[in-house]
Amino acid sequence: MNILVTGGAGFIGSNFLLLSVPRRTDHTFINVDALTYAANLKNLVAIEGRPNYVFERADIADADAVMALFDKYGPELVVHFAAESHVDRSIKGPRAFLRANVEGTYNLLEACRATWSPGHGLFHHVSTDEVFGSLGPTGYFTEQTPYDPSSPYSASKAASDHLVRAWIRTFGLRAKITNCSNNYGPFQFPEKLIPLMIANLLERKPLPVYGKGENVRSWLYVTDHCEAIWAVIENGRPGETYNIGGGNELRNIDVIHQLIRIVAEETGAERAELERLITYVTDRPGHDLRYAIDATKIRTELGWVPKESFETGLRKTVRWYLANKAWSDEVRSGEYRTWIEQNYGAR
Ligand code: NAD
Ligand code: TYD
Repeated sequence: MNILVTGGAGFIGSNFLLLSVPRRTDHTFINVDALTYAANLKNLVAIEGRPNYVFERADIADADAVMALFDKYGPELVVHFAAESHVDRSIKGPRAFLRANVEGTYNLLEACRATWSPGHGLFHHVSTDEVFGSLGPTGYFTEQTPYDPSSPYSASKAASDHLVRAWIRTFGLRAKITNCSNNYGPFQFPEKLIPLMIANLLERKPLPVYGKGENVRSWLYVTDHCEAIWAVIENGRPGETYNIGGGNELRNIDVIHQLIRIVAEETGAERAELERLITYVTDRPGHDLRYAIDATKIRTELGWVPKESFETGLRKTVRWYLANKAWSDEVRSGEYRTWIEQNYGAR
């Protein structure tokens, strides 16, 4: 079977392909990515020469390009990761998010509808728990929680989820949706909290904490997310949504303290010196207070549970960034510097 994976050169998509291509040699994986700032083909060198892996550079917001790929490969499964994914960037410039996340998803859905006969094919839509908005100090997001997105990013992902549901109900598309909590791990672009803090710790740069650092996120190691996606693709019910999360609810400031401890242990740096890098900066507008996932459905229906604890996953992640300094240095040049100036310069 041909499997079209969108956004396979980004963080989660790369991890998904690195895990899947060598293991599932009976399938051919077509990685469709526009290669935005967030993409890096160097993530994929380990699978580059594999006979069951192909890369196609294309923008999913270009309907003709999407249709041409469906005509060329006739995919029976689409795993849709491609998106603009960073909340702060969506605040500075929402338009790109509507284009990639809403129009891009629409074009893929239309290509599926045009090429798949009823009951055939599967569209797996990778989404986020941020569509549910913010929790107070208690409670969890379930699959029944009403959508209430706060940022342009989460609003665009919510819109894309709604489009997928509409195509299921109206056109009988075979599709599944997963809404996952915050991921961390290798190849994450150092604009998101964990890789940004690791990179800044290694360079002894300030650690910018938004507001009081009391916002809570629920963290999942990226390969646990990828395994959950496979569990849903293979055994989830068509038309259904599954929440994915592994607990690990922490305040941002506590994540940073844990990172400081691990970086100190791994590098021999003095912990107190690293602690002094913590710098409180102006809060993010519309900053969601807390996310927490109720993963009962995926656990009880599909038997999925995460393998990594936060401690083991975070240590692996720190070790990966230490061992791959060249990767980090390269992505932290050029456009990255402009972004850091735009986002943090005036805070
Ligand atoms: P990322 O920003 O690291 O990668 C996104 C990839 O999509 C990049 O390779 C980029 O080039 C590609 N892309 C963007 N616009 C495109 C377009 N118009 N056409 C083709 N390719 C395009 O993002 P990520 O963190 O890997 O997230 C992947 C997916 O998972 C997203 O849909 C995101 O909403 C979802 N998700 C992410 C998290 C998280 O914590 N990172 C959690 C839950 C869900
Ligand atoms: P982020 O990694 O951007 O993920 P999301 O906003 O999608 O959850 O941010 C995670 C949390 O960390 C969020 O509460 C915002 C906070 N944060 C900071 O305090 N400082 C930073 O420099 C960044 C990037 C995030």
